[in-house]
Amino acid sequence: MKDELYIANLIAEKTGIEAEKIAQLIAIPPEEKMGDFALPCFSFAKTMRRSPALISDELAESLRKELGPDSSIGRVESVKGYLNFYMNRAKASSKVVSEILEKREEYGNTDIGGKKTVIVEFSSPNIAKPFHIGHLCSTAIGNSLSKIYDTLGYNVVRINHLGDWGTQFGKLISAYKRWGDRDIILADPINELLKIYVRFHEEAEKDPSLEDEARHYFKLLEEGDEEVTELWQFFKDASMKEFSRMYKKLGIEFDSYAGESFYSDKMPEVVQILQDKGLLEESEGAQIVRFDDDKKLPPCIILKSDGSTIYATRDVAAAIYRKRTYDFYKNIYVVGIPQALHFKQVFSIIEKMGFDWADSCVHVGFGYVRFPDRVLSTRHGDVVLLEDVLNESIAKTKEIIEKSNSDIENIDEVSEKIGIGAILYTFLKNGREKDIIFTWDDILDFEGESGPYVQYTYARGRSILRKARAEGVNYENADLSLLTGDSEYKIVKMLAGFGKAIQSAADKNEPCQITRYITDVAQEFNKFYNNCNIMKSEEGLRDARLALTESVCICIKKALGLLGIETVERM
Ligand code: ARG
Repeated sequence: MKDELYIANLIAEKTGIEAEKIAQLIAIPPEEKMGDFALPCFSFAKTMRRSPALISDELAESLRKELGPDSSIGRVESVKGYLNFYMNRAKASSKVVSEILEKREEYGNTDIGGKKTVIVEFSSPNIAKPFHIGHLCSTAIGNSLSKIYDTLGYNVVRINHLGDWGTQFGKLISAYKRWGDRDIILADPINELLKIYVRFHEEAEKDPSLEDEARHYFKLLEEGDEEVTELWQFFKDASMKEFSRMYKKLGIEFDSYAGESFYSDKMPEVVQILQDKGLLEESEGAQIVRFDDDKKLPPCIILKSDGSTIYATRDVAAAIYRKRTYDFYKNIYVVGIPQALHFKQVFSIIEKMGFDWADSCVHVGFGYVRFPDRVLSTRHGDVVLLEDVLNESIAKTKEIIEKSNSDIENIDEVSEKIGIGAILYTFLKNGREKDIIFTWDDILDFEGESGPYVQYTYARGRSILRKARAEGVNYENADLSLLTGDSEYKIVKMLAGFGKAIQSAADKNEPCQITRYITDVAQEFNKFYNNCNIMKSEEGLRDARLALTESVCICIKKALGLLGIETVERM
């Protein structure tokens, strides 16, 4: 990247064309033999009043004079209007590999974020409901984004906006009072709470007065009634215990669990501001906000006719609170696409209230999980529990490792890391708006594009390094300028692009950019590994190749880490 910018500046000086424009034109040619990067000169023809071929000839001529033997750009060719640049491989390899070996797990980090605060709100399950596989989308994407922003020098605040408030808790309290048994619930909280919640809906169909009862209980909850609040807290504590188990398994932590209930006392201010600004309108007893026609948004209810607040009101309060508390630069919500309209409404309300930071709020949406070819072992109906899926993945991984005659001692630990990694990889493999197709064959395909494949590549690399050390080989002072072969140099170029991949993942809020990147690196390294016996290479080259292997391992470990996936030394 730096070399491209250097060239763009040189050419800008020579032509008077803006360096930025030139830099944008620079691209990677489709074929290796056409250079490491190239600049098409066609768009200069008009201003320079010469044919593109002539322009590229002249520029090549004059650049050659400036790129001395010490330059990392080794050669410039002019071919029919294109300037093709060839790197000095020896120099580029030395620079890239030594930088990785020096910076190690810090490689790829920048301080471009300047410590500005980025809030990543993710996971946010609803209490008293099962933690199902769909929750993993938000959990995996959000966790990864928080690590990506962290790497770029932002101050990241991870928030779990728990769904712990709303009329459904009135229903649950009513159900509990009718059919609940504390001991039964304590033994298996979420399942039992779900059972009585489902029963509530069944009975309410026969007897609609139950709905009024539920509304009454939620009203009591909002008023802070002691008995009802104590019950709600009991539901919440029991649920949190289960959620925490999932987060621990996935290695995920939050800075704040301020969920919907946290804002229950912060709503009057929202209503007040809306009222003062004349934004509230009465409609069938409820207070609503209407949007300008060009937004094409349906009106949003702020207060229901009984005076209670809704989900959207709490989100407005939460955004204001977050701005005051964290003074965020970006406030990211990792929530499924079905809630896109909701966030459009919430952000528009904030804008209407006159908060100029409304456009720093970003909804990062994602698609559904689909199970095309199998029935998962589920404990209730069509709800696929995350815990069941993780356990199944770990068990299947263990079977595969056992069949491979691996002699590792810590098979349970390894199976857990590979099994969970395989699931996370699957959830971060494609663009987040695409549906996730869940098939075990793909997830645990150790040879395909999968978590285990990348983890295996890492373990393979580490095993050569162990072997080298066991044989007394010290590659610390290897001559890295020997890494000029096509295959080695291709890997070096990819490793040099790590920072760019991280930046692009942040720009698009797409962890899959990292998944794609590191899978490509792993594939390229495996090709190299299979075609060349590293340990049997001639001594100097062997050492340089070992150093390259270590750099690949450093990048794989770091990239998988950004996806929330752990590596293992042996598998
Ligand atoms: N609890 C919600 C659900 O499970 C997701 C919350 C999303 N975040 C928010 N700020 N509204 O659907």
